[in-house]
Amino acid sequence: EPFERSTRAARKNETLQETKTRFLLFEGATDRGCQIQLHRADTLQQCGFNASLPLVMIIHGWSVDGLLEDWIWQMVAALKSQLARPVNVALADWISLAQNHYAVAVRNTRLVGQEVAAILRWLEESAPFSRSNVHLIGYSLGAHVSGFAGSYIGGKHKIGRITGLDAAGPMFEGASPNDRLSPDDANFVDAIHTFTREHMGLSVGIKEPVAHYDFYPNGGSFQPGCHFLDLYKHITKHGLNAFTQTIKCAHERSVHLFIDSLEHPNLQSTAYLCSGMDSFSQGLCLDCKKGRCNTLGYHVRQGGQSKKSKQLFLVTRAQAPFKVYHYQFKIQFLNQIEKPVEPTFTMSLLGTDLEIQKIPITLGEGITSNKTYSFLITLDSDIGELLKIKFKWENSAVWANVWNTVQTIIPWGRGPLYSGLVLKNIRVKAGETQKRMVFCSESMEDLQLHPTQEKTFVRCDVNSKKMKRKNR
Ligand SMILES: *[C@@H]1O[C@H](CO)[C@@H](O)[C@H](O)[C@H]1NC(C)=O
Ligand SMILES: *[C@@H]1O[C@H](CO)[C@@H](O)[C@H](O)[C@H]1NC(C)=O
Ligand SMILES: *[C@@H]1O[C@H](CO)[C@@H](O)[C@H](O)[C@H]1NC(C)=O
Repeated sequence: EPFERSTRAARKNETLQETKTRFLLFEGATDRGCQIQLHRADTLQQCGFNASLPLVMIIHGWSVDGLLEDWIWQMVAALKSQLARPVNVALADWISLAQNHYAVAVRNTRLVGQEVAAILRWLEESAPFSRSNVHLIGYSLGAHVSGFAGSYIGGKHKIGRITGLDAAGPMFEGASPNDRLSPDDANFVDAIHTFTREHMGLSVGIKEPVAHYDFYPNGGSFQPGCHFLDLYKHITKHGLNAFTQTIKCAHERSVHLFIDSLEHPNLQSTAYLCSGMDSFSQGLCLDCKKGRCNTLGYHVRQGGQSKKSKQLFLVTRAQAPFKVYHYQFKIQFLNQIEKPVEPTFTMSLLGTDLEIQKIPITLGEGITSNKTYSFLITLDSDIGELLKIKFKWENSAVWANVWNTVQTIIPWGRGPLYSGLVLKNIRVKAGETQKRMVFCSESMEDLQLHPTQEKTFVRCDVNSKKMKRKNR
């Protein structure tokens, strides 16, 4: 309710003369900014605002120490140096309002949103400039500031784009769309969720979707390379601030994923529409048809958005460049096995550019008859086109004995008596190229795979495809 009152008051205050937020404009990749002031057109000129270019405005989040964080300068530099089409880059510095008890900082997000809206309206009045050319990038509480700016700006038209980087969770999770970042706040809203793991019912980053496209890297709850074990390393480096550092690792990952998308234009990460990380880990979601996949970060594909938020998943590396290559593998053992067995396998993948050795495969529950196993494999490097798969049963000779005794107990079905596991083919789908492939055993006369043995599989769908083409 205090929100409501201050909002109404702020809305009435149409003749806002001075802002508590400092708006800085950056001319180059390394300068520390030039302040533009509401209703002072001369400051626009002094700071080199170019009304014919889009405006990207960075909005930081809650602050413990009252200092602007380093990622801000990294993002300014990336926006200034990496884009084919130049943009105006600005920062909404609301640090004096952000360095407060969390609840106070939360309350201030509305005021700052109001001030951002005021400066954008003024830009439209004082220059041939349109709000549709504005992209707000808000981190943590800054994501909600962006949302409020988008709703306070009023009028028929919306801000062009808002990107929410791990939008803050506490006091926003479960709130009505009017009280947090939501898809209504801009023509296009994208969000990256990186730290939604709950502690005592709260998560640092908001879990629920808040955008047209909500990206959940590695499931969104926590990030690779941010293990709590690192806390000890941080304690020696940062003293008691280590706890903040550890929390920041996964929270701030959203920012670094975004910066990475600017810095590595040739290594854009693809994310895929999916119901959750469980299905994603089974490789079931690597589909790009009908807009079911999109690009993470600055170069996201806009358009095709519906009212309902699309939740997309991907795996990333632990450091930049974050991109991985996603593959779905499907295998089926033809044996009749009545008792589940749990062998361990590895796969080596030979591509036109690179070979990756011995990727461990975990099939979850043991192997049973005729079930198809689908799983996700991610590679840090581009291996080119996949040519060959070496599938190895890793268990030791001791395990081979166990296998032999299991076999004598198992009543094998009629037909040929198999003494090994029979893996007829391996079906593969590459997410990044959307290519489907089938690999068959190189030696069709001996299909049996025994413990410690390795079998090679080669492409076998090439001919059948050619035939299909002929038939058409
Ligand atoms: C409205 O503007 C006046 C100055 O013009 C300021 O003193 C007051 O705090 C503002 N109120 C709000 C809610 O922004
Ligand atoms: C503004 O940007 C346009 C488009 O890049 C460019 O042609 C023009 O020279 C710029 N104006 C100034 C004053 O830099
Ligand atoms: C497994 O598949 C083979 C070949 O399709 C079939 O002959 C066999 O009956 C199946 N076994 C079971 C248990 O379904």
